[in-house]
Amino acid sequence: MLHIPLFFLFLQYPLIQAGGYLELRLKSAFPLNATVEITEGIYFPTNKRTYSMPLVPDETRILTNIPVRFRHPGTVLVNSGPVEKFGLEYETIRSERWNTIQMTIGPDEIHLPFTGFRIDIKCDRNWYGAYCDQFCNADVAKTINRRCTDSGTLGCPDHYYGPNCDKLINHNWRKCQCQNGGFCVSSFPRLSNPTLGTVKDQLICECPLGFEGGKCEKESYEYAEPITVEMYGTDHKWDNLQQFYNRSLVENELRDLDRF
Ligand SMILES: *[C@@H]1O[C@H](CO)[C@@H](O)[C@H](O)[C@H]1NC(C)=O
Ligand SMILES: *[C@@H]1O[C@H](CO)[C@@H](O)[C@H](O)[C@H]1NC(C)=O
Repeated sequence: MLHIPLFFLFLQYPLIQAGGYLELRLKSAFPLNATVEITEGIYFPTNKRTYSMPLVPDETRILTNIPVRFRHPGTVLVNSGPVEKFGLEYETIRSERWNTIQMTIGPDEIHLPFTGFRIDIKCDRNWYGAYCDQFCNADVAKTINRRCTDSGTLGCPDHYYGPNCDKLINHNWRKCQCQNGGFCVSSFPRLSNPTLGTVKDQLICECPLGFEGGKCEKESYEYAEPITVEMYGTDHKWDNLQQFYNRSLVENELRDLDRF
């Protein structure tokens, strides 16, 4: 029988407030010297960072660990650089402003020369919640047969519940009817009575990205507006560019990471 005080888990509360980062994936059908610009703010963009991202056909390139400021607007601007053959001087993909939150932007379709485009904003290890500001030490949790829930509370390992995490969760229970692919898990109150084995847990739904509410019944408000794509060309190759543009809409190969 374990009698480890719960507050032990929170003693190591780090000094930083929250942790998360941005990850950008690009894929192209042509060799490109693409650049990526990431800024905070909209009207007065600050903290502008520029990355060069050379692409070769059909290989996914990943830019990752780019720090972001949660609860603040941000923008991402991708510039393809030239593709002579099509009269394309450059194409831009601009994310419209968003409120920085844990999320994924992966449109269904994208314009050539790109064949894949995806942005993920993720939490650092041991940080949880929409704004990645809830701390829970996953390693320590594991040593006492607990896990961190996606809101940063402690819960029983998957499929179990109860003060001692020894009861099986029946996913068909009424109190556990998670919708839209939500997953029923146990969750202990955050700073509750300090001994395990006496504290009562609750069953909650962990929702996939894009859904929220007690049973994942609500679609999350779409902070990220659609991206905009613009093409720029030279006058003497205008026809080429027109033709190219008319045939440039393709399926986004990076929309679902598992499929390709
Ligand atoms: C990318 O830049 C390098 C160096 O400036 C150049 O040699 C190369 O041709 C460029 N590639 C493309 C696809 O524009
Ligand atoms: C491209 O599409 C537009 C509108 O659909 C059409 O008016 C134009 O003629 C097309 N251009 C070429 C070069 O195919």
